[in-house]
Amino acid sequence: MSRLSLANVELAHEIISHYPRKKSALIPLLHVAQEQDGYVSEAAMEHLAELVGITPAEVLGTASFYEMFKFEPQGKYMVNICTNISCQLNGGEELLHHAEETLGIRPGGTTADGLFTLEDVECIAACTEAPCLQVNYRYEYRLGNDDFDRLIADLRSGARSEIPAHGTLGRVRQHIPDDRRAGIEPPEDAGTPSWFSSRSAD
Ligand code: FES
Repeated sequence: MSRLSLANVELAHEIISHYPRKKSALIPLLHVAQEQDGYVSEAAMEHLAELVGITPAEVLGTASFYEMFKFEPQGKYMVNICTNISCQLNGGEELLHHAEETLGIRPGGTTADGLFTLEDVECIAACTEAPCLQVNYRYEYRLGNDDFDRLIADLRSGARSEIPAHGTLGRVRQHIPDDRRAGIEPPEDAGTPSWFSSRSAD
């Protein structure tokens, strides 16, 4: 897959300008790369490394700490089924097995049409609504097998258009005027913070 597009390079420079050190912008830049291709490709990691002045290995070392960054092509819809304790007690494992049969893939796999990736995940913090899952991190609660099949049919038909493709970022970006930005000076150049000097005078 590709390096960042020209539009995304422009966006990357804008994001980098918000930070005291270029490499501090790495996490938001990884999100930009993932939105572009649906995952963070090797070429994109090399490009990010050039943009922020670190090595591709350092980019991978940072990105691989975070479960939500993916390094292989993913389905348009990431289906995360919880099989942790509350969900397990309420049919989460049966739901996962049903999903495997319905989609014809195992956890970690992607359907041949590129629509669905299935994941078996730990608690997603909706234990009172067990068994539950997420599609591209949007919750679906208390699902039985029929509910699951309906969900998949709706996603296939486009009836759930409120769920964006995997990797899509928020549509609202901050645009803070230069004179109102805080924290873009490296700490060693910033002198003693005002809050610290006023406290030490007490
Ligand atoms: S155990 Fe499934 S959401 Fe907590």
